[in-house]
Amino acid sequence: MTRIVHLSDIHVSESYFLADVAESVLQSVNEISPEIVVVTGDLTHNGSHQEFRDVKEYMDRIDCRNKVIIPGNHDSRNLGYLLFEDLFGARSQSHTFNGVTVVGVDSSEPDIDDGHIGRESYDWIAKNFETDDFKVFALHHHLIPVPMTGREVQIPVDSGDVLELLHRCGVNLVLCGHKHVPWVWRLNEMFVVNAGSMSSKDIKARTTHCYNLIEVDRKDLQIYQVLPTGERRLIIDSNYESKNE
Ligand SMILES: [Fe+2]
Ligand SMILES: [Fe+2]
Repeated sequence: MTRIVHLSDIHVSESYFLADVAESVLQSVNEISPEIVVVTGDLTHNGSHQEFRDVKEYMDRIDCRNKVIIPGNHDSRNLGYLLFEDLFGARSQSHTFNGVTVVGVDSSEPDIDDGHIGRESYDWIAKNFETDDFKVFALHHHLIPVPMTGREVQIPVDSGDVLELLHRCGVNLVLCGHKHVPWVWRLNEMFVVNAGSMSSKDIKARTTHCYNLIEVDRKDLQIYQVLPTGERRLIIDSNYESKNE
């Protein structure tokens, strides 16, 4: 079994960050000791040097060798995307661990809050999904509207084409964030999982800080919503067809 922890919207900053909540999350993630950690952006609030230094230190304290970290719209502000590259590497990346392929793309544009993947990335995405692994696509922006978030804005401008591409590639799981509201949609055979904010002061009514834990083996997929205390709630318990048999 492979355990994937999905964190999002950390928002390290002087004004928007809850350090005590982040410490609790860190402890509970290290207790899980996951094989993979995926972070879907907004690590910082303003993309500043100090914020990036602080969040890098935080990321280094997560006890996991396989991390896929991609930026959000807040990280790309004020040339922050350059600091992101210096500290975390490529803004889009693909990794395979334990029979799980994770393709993460940067859906941000500098100083613009709208999401955008771009047709120039589609061939690269498809090529990386030419595998019989369990396929995970990660991005910051929500690919499908999320309830309880008010008027629909900033969804990737090419979300329809990207959804068709992911469906054609046989993607099992999409991980995203941005709206600070946890939600799961099942679309055809694909689960689209939105994370709540891990530690931002900016959370929406009737939600709380949380992250996701995904457990996957050859036949079963479980998705849990986890509170900073480590308390977890099973939200999806499903079978899927592994092509690896
Ligand atoms: Fe955010
Ligand atoms: Fe965002």
